[in-house]
Amino acid sequence: MGLQITHTPDFVMKWFLFFVLAIGLGLCSSTANSVSGYNYYRLPTALKPQKYYLRILTLLENPEELRFTGTVKIVIEALENTRNITLHSKNLTIDESKITLRKISEDGNKDNCVTSTSINPIHDFYILNTCEELLAGNVYKLSVPFSADLSRQLIGYYRSSYKDPETNVTRWLSATQFEPASARKAFPCFDEPAYKASFVVTLGYHKKFTGLSNMPVKETKPHESLTDYIWSHFEESVPMSTYLVAYSVNDFVNKPSTLPNGALFRTWARPNAIDQCDFAAEFGPKVLQYYEQFFGIKFPLPKIDQMAVPDFSAGAMENWGLVKYRESTLLFSKTHSSLADKQDLANVIAHELAHQWFGNLVTMKWWTDLWLNEGFATYVASLGVEDIHPEWNTKDRGSLTTMMATFRLDSLVTSHPISRPIKMVTEIEESFDAISYQKGSSVLRMMHLFMGEDAFRSGLKSYLQLYAYKNAEQDNLWESLTEAAHKNGALPKNYEIKTIMDSWTLQTGYPIVNVTRDYKTGTAKLGQERYLRNTEISRAQCVGCWWIPLSYTTQNEKDFSNTAPKAWMECSRSGESIPKTIQDLPGPDQWVIFNNQLSTPYKVNYDAQNWKLLIQTLNSEEFQSIHVINRAQLIDDVLYLAWTGEQDYETALQVTDYLQRERDLLPWTSAFNNLKLLNRILRQTPNFGFFKRYMKKLFTPIYEHLNGINDTFSSIQHQDQILLKTMVVEWACQYQVSDCVPRAQSYFSRWRSEPNPDENNPIPINFRSSVYCAAIKYGTDEDWDFLWSRYKNSNVGTEKQVILGTLGCSREVWILQRYLERAFNPKGGIRKQDSSLSFQAVASREVGVLLAKKYLIDNVDLIHKYYYPQTRSMSRFFSQLSEQVITKSDLNGFRAFVNNSRQYLKGLSQTIQQSLEIMLTNVQWMERNYHQFSRSIQQHL
Ligand code: BES
Ligand code: ZN
Repeated sequence: MGLQITHTPDFVMKWFLFFVLAIGLGLCSSTANSVSGYNYYRLPTALKPQKYYLRILTLLENPEELRFTGTVKIVIEALENTRNITLHSKNLTIDESKITLRKISEDGNKDNCVTSTSINPIHDFYILNTCEELLAGNVYKLSVPFSADLSRQLIGYYRSSYKDPETNVTRWLSATQFEPASARKAFPCFDEPAYKASFVVTLGYHKKFTGLSNMPVKETKPHESLTDYIWSHFEESVPMSTYLVAYSVNDFVNKPSTLPNGALFRTWARPNAIDQCDFAAEFGPKVLQYYEQFFGIKFPLPKIDQMAVPDFSAGAMENWGLVKYRESTLLFSKTHSSLADKQDLANVIAHELAHQWFGNLVTMKWWTDLWLNEGFATYVASLGVEDIHPEWNTKDRGSLTTMMATFRLDSLVTSHPISRPIKMVTEIEESFDAISYQKGSSVLRMMHLFMGEDAFRSGLKSYLQLYAYKNAEQDNLWESLTEAAHKNGALPKNYEIKTIMDSWTLQTGYPIVNVTRDYKTGTAKLGQERYLRNTEISRAQCVGCWWIPLSYTTQNEKDFSNTAPKAWMECSRSGESIPKTIQDLPGPDQWVIFNNQLSTPYKVNYDAQNWKLLIQTLNSEEFQSIHVINRAQLIDDVLYLAWTGEQDYETALQVTDYLQRERDLLPWTSAFNNLKLLNRILRQTPNFGFFKRYMKKLFTPIYEHLNGINDTFSSIQHQDQILLKTMVVEWACQYQVSDCVPRAQSYFSRWRSEPNPDENNPIPINFRSSVYCAAIKYGTDEDWDFLWSRYKNSNVGTEKQVILGTLGCSREVWILQRYLERAFNPKGGIRKQDSSLSFQAVASREVGVLLAKKYLIDNVDLIHKYYYPQTRSMSRFFSQLSEQVITKSDLNGFRAFVNNSRQYLKGLSQTIQQSLEIMLTNVQWMERNYHQFSRSIQQHL
């Protein structure tokens, strides 16, 4: 028996201490030297894996011992001479005596061997020192056996379970989640995205289960010694990154939905949920086919499975050929899921399938360019969903919401560039944020719109073809796009995509363009500066310059459809903005609007006269002559400008007043998104009454126009009106408009009197969230318990989410306290993946926020332990609370808390900085705007 190396945290800690001591005392032995000698966060580049043979036996029989054992054989090419093999490995037990190493050559394989091993716990390195030097040009085969418990966290190779409804017995299954850096917890490997290799996976398990992996099963054989166990051999994969490897052993069933000429397509779920797979099974292959056509590249694998995993930390994960989802993002129930749920599902599926090209086929070289994965998947998904469900009109709504998310986060000094340097593996997770996803998507859309369809598509296609099965950086994309744009005449020859796009991806923030018209000469002067929410920071200090494609239209012309730039705002070589003058603008009675359809992420401020003209049109019968996205833009812009003092609230309210006429979803989405922030501040102040009255005034007309909380859904023609109605009712019940609350309560009591409420729910699906919330807010303890029982009994992921979100609507301190405790108690009945929903449900409401804040402060150690090492889940807690902190003393209290709890908040520093800045900007708002706003709003009641 050789030495057992178990990388348990304890062990790691001891090693770490040993290093510190050894180095401090000058005691470095040869092993310690090899560890401390290489302490860079990236793998050495001497070796390159070509192929992995991965064999894993999964034991799911005994709930007390859910384990896996395996062997990985890696075919490694030496690019340089080296005396060691450095791999990633974490929390795996490795029997060193069984490691073998051979040189592969034509005249027979030659034995090499491993003299000693060591680990670097900081970078998860497992270092094997070899008997003989590995020589450049040679190929070696390394075999390493390993084993571990199936993890209890939702990362690496882990356990998940569900209850069989018939027998009430717990059924176990296994699943993987490797992105960004957890393949190393499942098998020793070169766990960086640029080390692409092909994978030959073999899974062993009891024959009553099914084994799934990226590729189809080639053959199945009985296990050599374990009775009733089998080995499933999967076909060899195409070259791919380790974070995309996936497998699962489960007792699920599937629904096939292969299209003619398409790859074999199956959707998997636990048996009792298979009837919820219809929508995903139908939508998935369609959107896959759309991408094949859009990119002009066929999906390269023979099959694709999508699987609903009962415990899953992300929303979904794009593993090549085996895409995994939460139940709530894959499963759709006709009787329990809403239209919004269905659209969300479609969007998630479209996102993950877009990754099969952007991410899987072409992968970023390093995590710095994560946005190439996530920004693309986000943008391309919106095209895919639009193509298959044009009646949903989701493309415009998606553009608006991604743009709004960008504006929000990127207005902070503590935001970061799209392209974000990553120096520690622990920093990678922080990049999965609105900047990579939403800002990434927004700048891609910007390019699409300024280059036009043909150039954009042909540029993308050549980029995908050039880098297929390889890795790329953003510069590679810029090259392909520049070439295509020049060929198509879509970009002036003296312009390069790189120059333009670097200004968007390497700089933090976005500009505000100030437009000052000269009404006599028909010209306008344009200047740009960074928009910052934090007014303590002088804008002059935060210099920046963005290359801005300028599209605009006038009141005469009203041509919002043309998103090609009429001019550009340019930057000098030294990075300063070059002021721009626009000619041929109309007279003083005609407005101008910049940024047709909000094609580029910038804000616009106009001179007073132009705002006046815009306000006149908005508040007239003609308001629809302004494009619906630009109406949403004007609301968003003017409320931002008022927030930071570039406009007064009088002007802003003159804009929002027009909402009484508005019947379209997008401007309302923009309005609610902004008014929500004011609501969260003002509801803590004595002047909230005025705000409430104003809100009621604004949306009573639309509430009535849509027939309020009456179930008129079957007669609604346009799908976005369904969403609008859902949204308006939610706000109406919150502000007790008209009959909203009593009607909600009567729906709820009808449900309560159903003999079988789990089967029959008389509440219209699209109102359920509003109805539950109102019923819980104004209801009794029994109402809460009733809803909790429905949560426990529900078989539908989306329904469970809605309930978790509304159980926090209570205003009873003890009930909320009990709810929070259940959320973080492993036996409380709420899965770990969902605890943050409960916390947010409490934290987002006026009574709950106080309790949630205290709960977090008092229990930060326990909450940290509950999530560790996936503490990223806690980041939402901070952002949620930050929007509701409005006083200096609360801000200081938070600062002190963060300082005292540093050891529990590692890996959250970005979110925490951002949250503190949001709190600060709220304090600033109170100081600067509270009185002015309160005065102005009274003039508008
Ligand atoms: N690649 C991500 C999954 C992921 C997220 C892995 C964070 C590691 C850390 C996946 O493609 C994704 O983006 N999922 C989203 C849902 C999507 C529709 C926006 C998610 O998990 O929220
Ligand atoms: Zn993604």
